[in-house]
Amino acid sequence: MQTEIANFTFYNPVKIIFGKDQIEQLPELISKDKKILITYGGGSVIRFGTLDRVKEALSGYTFGEFGGIEANPTFETCMRAVDVIKKEGYDYLLAVGGGSVIDGTKFIAAAAKFAGDPIDIFASGVGKGLPIEDAIPLGTILTLPATGSEMNETSVITIKEKQAKISFKHEKVYPVFSILEPELTYTLPKRQLANGITDSFVHIIEQYLTYPVGGMVQDRFSEGLLQTLIEIGPEVVDEDNHDYTLRANYMWTATMALNRILSRGVPGDWAAHGLGHEITVLNHTDHARTLSAILPALMDIRRTEKHDKLIQYAERVWHIHEGSDEEKVDAAIEQTASFLRSIGMPVTLQEIDVKKSDIDFLVGQLEKHNNTAISERGDQTLEVSRRIYERALAKDYASN
Ligand code: NZQ
Ligand code: ZN
Repeated sequence: MQTEIANFTFYNPVKIIFGKDQIEQLPELISKDKKILITYGGGSVIRFGTLDRVKEALSGYTFGEFGGIEANPTFETCMRAVDVIKKEGYDYLLAVGGGSVIDGTKFIAAAAKFAGDPIDIFASGVGKGLPIEDAIPLGTILTLPATGSEMNETSVITIKEKQAKISFKHEKVYPVFSILEPELTYTLPKRQLANGITDSFVHIIEQYLTYPVGGMVQDRFSEGLLQTLIEIGPEVVDEDNHDYTLRANYMWTATMALNRILSRGVPGDWAAHGLGHEITVLNHTDHARTLSAILPALMDIRRTEKHDKLIQYAERVWHIHEGSDEEKVDAAIEQTASFLRSIGMPVTLQEIDVKKSDIDFLVGQLEKHNNTAISERGDQTLEVSRRIYERALAKDYASN
């Protein structure tokens, strides 16, 4: 266990272009000689006019389109894009969409340049985890603030054939640039807004709620971002509230939540994500809804290991100063669950259709993907994960 801030490198090359009417800047960002493949999802960018704006900004460029990247993007769909690239010779990718389109495009960028079978880009019992040597450069236009994918080097892909939802990470798939127009969030339905607030919230928690090593900058940044989400969350999920400042703060918080600035030199715990991904494999629940259903139970079951940080979280984020340590921890867990429920998120596994009989499958999946010693201490065994799933099924922490 580390006792002080570990050595670290901080490198984030993504150019962020933030504000109103920024899509028009595309010609400043991509050189004219590039042959661009625009990638997108199930059609929201067509319905709401974003794709037309992109095409207009790219007049004079040579470009093609690849639509249909689904939520929780699949290896199978992405490989169809790789075929198109190989046939038609694109040398720049432009992802227009949420985390799924961006993640899918990162994988496509790496797979199109990969010498062997692209399944081997993945490790964790799925492929051989071979190194990526090169990737097609990509830019993004973000339409759903949630994942942070627009400013990080991670991609999460579902391999249907192997019943796996798995990530890879590589510097070569950092976007060259990401355009963040808060006004693009105005078309998001409440469910996706709540998902976005929640995914960002849990990203911050997973980099913060571990054990203290004296990372004052990381801690205060995390606490500030958590408080911002708590403050704006209930207003952001009102889909009719198109206040620019509100949506701008939502968008920037989501990006800052997972661009590596919070995690440098401090321990991290991606257990809620690990447990959550297997629920999405089981029944296709939205990513963020798996996290909110797991988080309160995880905090409770891991209260001893996370004790010091839970107290810090209670005091600094929720302003809980009364009571014994254990009472503060209880109150912080309850406040977290109540906040999530207040923005319309599930906080128990029943609410996302997980049954007791599914837990064996979920734990088996964790084992298959080598998630047998997870968390900031590497001491979250399968038995502990099972207890978290069971508790998330049995107890509603927002009901007090
Ligand atoms: O597909 P379209 O038609 O575009 O519709 C999407 C989709 O149905 C819709 N949408 C997006 N922007 C919209 C919009 N609807 C109206 N107006 C807009 N402006 O929203 C739906 C969900 O989109 P999706 O991209 O799937 O959501 P999200 O951004 O939450 O991404 C989730 C994926 O990202 C992964 C998750 O596991 C999941 O696969 N993650 C990626 C991470 C990363 N790269 O660092 C970290 C995260 O922890 C996460 O695991
Ligand atoms: Zn997430």
